[in-house]
Amino acid sequence: MDYDTIAKSYNELYIEEQLRKLNIIKKYLKIKKNHKLLDVGCGTGISTNFFDCKTFGIDKSKEMIEQGNGNLIQSLAEDLPFKDKYFDIVISVTSVHNFDNPKKALKEIQRVKKSKAQVVITLLNKSIKYNKIKELIKKYFEIISEIDEDKDTIFILR
Ligand SMILES: C[S@@+](CC[C@H](N)C(=O)[O-])C[C@H]1O[C@@H](n2cnc3c(N)ncnc32)[C@H](O)[C@@H]1O
Repeated sequence: MDYDTIAKSYNELYIEEQLRKLNIIKKYLKIKKNHKLLDVGCGTGISTNFFDCKTFGIDKSKEMIEQGNGNLIQSLAEDLPFKDKYFDIVISVTSVHNFDNPKKALKEIQRVKKSKAQVVITLLNKSIKYNKIKELIKKYFEIISEIDEDKDTIFILR
């Protein structure tokens, strides 16, 4: 999907669906105000004001991040502009199957998360890459919980 083209209508089309997923994710996270949370493939930054902590987002699409506000940076998931072991929480919602190189992106998430960080990745059930990406998730993370949401599988990871 070309997210640059749909950026202006993205929230109108998807905000309810994405908020439903974020509400489930919130129940599984233990969040402290001083935590640093990164959203990889943050889109329009729906997560920015959703969590009560310091949030950051990166997305490939300049047009998508221009729809939001907060600490949103145009960047590739495969090359995160952060130092090692920086984040307490990393999430990626309905994005990983869009990345050109999901394996590289998952390795980058591993790199920027603190050793005991909480990680949540949601994967679109109908993605043709579903099985391949699930195998990669299992390779790089420990699955704590797997929640079958309507459209996505939500992986709670460590
Ligand atoms: C379905 S949207 C999800 C956006 C957001 N997570 C949400 O829940 O609304 C997928 C996003 O992945 C982004 N994306 C695609 N490839 C990317 C990459 N290689 N690095 C970072 N973001 C990417 C797209 O620009 C798009 O904003």
